[in-house]
Parts: sequence; structure tokens; C-alpha cells
Amino acid sequence: MTFRKTQTLGADAVGIATAARIISAGGLVAFPTETVYGLGADARNDQAVARIFAAKARPQFNPLIVHVADLASARTIGHFGDVALRLAGAFWPGPLTIVVPIQPESGLSKLVTSGLSTVGIRVPENPVAQQILHAFGGPVAAPSANLSGQISPTCAAHVAQGLGGRIDAIVDGGTCDVGLESTIVGTAGDPALLRPGGLPAEAIETCLGLHLLSLGDAPTPTSPGQLASHYAPHSKMRLNAVEKRAGEVLLGFGDAPGADINLSETGDLVAAAAALFSALHKLDTSDAATIAVSPIPEIGLGRAINDRLRRAAAPRP
Ligand code: TXA
Ligand code: MG
Repeated sequence: MTFRKTQTLGADAVGIATAARIISAGGLVAFPTETVYGLGADARNDQAVARIFAAKARPQFNPLIVHVADLASARTIGHFGDVALRLAGAFWPGPLTIVVPIQPESGLSKLVTSGLSTVGIRVPENPVAQQILHAFGGPVAAPSANLSGQISPTCAAHVAQGLGGRIDAIVDGGTCDVGLESTIVGTAGDPALLRPGGLPAEAIETCLGLHLLSLGDAPTPTSPGQLASHYAPHSKMRLNAVEKRAGEVLLGFGDAPGADINLSETGDLVAAAAALFSALHKLDTSDAATIAVSPIPEIGLGRAINDRLRRAAAPRP
């Protein structure tokens, strides 16, 4: 692909108008959401969507999440049944992606859905994301704004490190509040948790009054976020570390003596999620061969944190 100059735009009226113009013209703009930075393109433009895969150096055409400003726009793209409507009403705007059957007249590029009959849609809450979506006025396909297989970006500097020179612009809207990708729920069949993320699965189960099927129950895994090695730092990872060994840096949680970074000394999982990717980015630039990580409880956002940590620790392809 041709390498280009990447502009940094402010999250002000000029920056937002420029971002919307670049997306309308088929360009690529990284922008903040409350989960992680997304790499956005016009979801109806085949060429623009293809450039997302090229810029990220993604090996396969995985389906992308479509971002829209509100539920009304979402319903022009996907078919919302009772379950999807209840989830949208309870959790949008916010860190939840809902997979629904695609509308025949959606106008989406087939590359966005990888030719599936379903589409993942999200209404983000971040005000900068909202303003860009309003200014552009159409659906924006946006995976996380990192090179394929690397750690997701939670600030503009992370995006510039990975994608500088490969995309048209980065809108700098500060640090992402949630810090983990959205939770993905499938509603085309029995409601299923396709990816744990920034919205605790328990909140979804309480809202729906049922247990979500989890990936293990699903007949075919459909979310490539499941690629075993994903979100990988360069260093090795050692999980559930109760002490720091020679040659390690320690990513702590709770009471963790000697931690180089502590995700939350008080054991707050929300704070830990927000800090996770930034901490991995930082520790990955140290000289230590291994990043050891304290045990994280498997509840609430801890499920999503552990999911990302297990992928970071998995053997590399
Ligand atoms: O928080 C997020 O979700 C961020 C921000 C930018 O919105 N985006 C993000 O996108 O994490 P990405 O491309 O890195 O992850 C998209 C995930 C993939 O694992 C993909 O398989 C799944 O969403 N997905 C998208 N459409 C799907 C569909 N129709 N069925 C099942 N999974 C789908
Ligand atoms: Mg990603």
C-alpha cells in the first residue's frame, strides 16, 4: 500500500469536520471511543473498507463492527428483534456491540460483514465519536486502530506508534474511559456472548433475565477476536503470578509487592480495565523478557481482562 502522511486532528469543531470529510472521501481516520480507538472508514465504500485491512495488515477479512449515531440509524442496517431492542434500550450508547441479521437494503460493503448474513453494530457513547458520526451521517466500519495482532490503542499516541504513516488522520480525544473493546452479543439465534468486553456479561444477563450462551456452547466460533494469539505484546507473559521472579516486570492487581505497574491497588476491576492496554504498552518497552501478571478475579470486567491476558500469553503463530 502507499504510505502517507498522517495528520493529527484536534477533537474540536475543525478536527471533527475534517475527520468527517476524510471519511466521506474514502479515507481512514482513527478516532476515540469509550472502549478503544477505532480505525474508521465509510462502511458502504468497498475500497475504503479494504484499506482498513491493508493498513492494519490483517491477515484475514474478519467482519468489522459498524458504528452509528443512534438506534434509528442502526435499524436501517440491521433487523432488531425483541432481545436486540431490549439490549439497545438498556445499554446504548455504550460499550456493547449487538450482532443482528443484516437488512437487505443496508448498503454495507460485503467486506464489512465478510459476506455473513449478520452484522455487528454499536452506538458509542464517547462525545467525539458521536460528533464524528453525526457530522459524517452514515455508518462507519471501525476495528480497533492497531496493527493486526498487537495491543489495542487507548490513546492517540498508541495509534500513531502502530499506524502512523499508514492512515490519513488521527483525532486526538484523550484517553479512553473503558479501555477494553466492547462486549459482543449475538442475537440472531439464542443470545450468546461472542466476546467478553467493556460491559460485564452479568449486566446483560440481568437485563434479559437469562443466561447467555458462551462461545464454548456455540456451534461455530464466529468472532476472530478468538484467534488464540491476539493483543500480543512482544515480551512473554506469565499469568496468575503470585510473585515477581528474576528478569520479570510485574503487572500487579490488588496487593502486589514489587509491582512495576499496579492496575488497581484497591482491586477495582473498572479501573484495571481502563489501565490494562496502556500498562501492557508501557511494560512491553522495558528490557524484561517476561511480563508477569497478578491473578485477576473471573467476575464482571475481570472476565474480559482475563480473556485479553490469555490471548496475549498464547503461543504466537
Ligand atoms: O470496542 C470495540 O468493539 C472496538 C471499537 C473501535 O468500537 N472495535 C473493535 O473491533 O474491537 P475489532 O474489529 O477489533 O473487533 C471486531 C470483532 C471481531 O472479533 C469480529 O469477529 C466481531 O467483532 N464481529 C463483527 N461482526 C460480527 C458478526 N456479524 N458476527 C460475529 N462477530 C462479529
Ligand atoms: Mg482488535
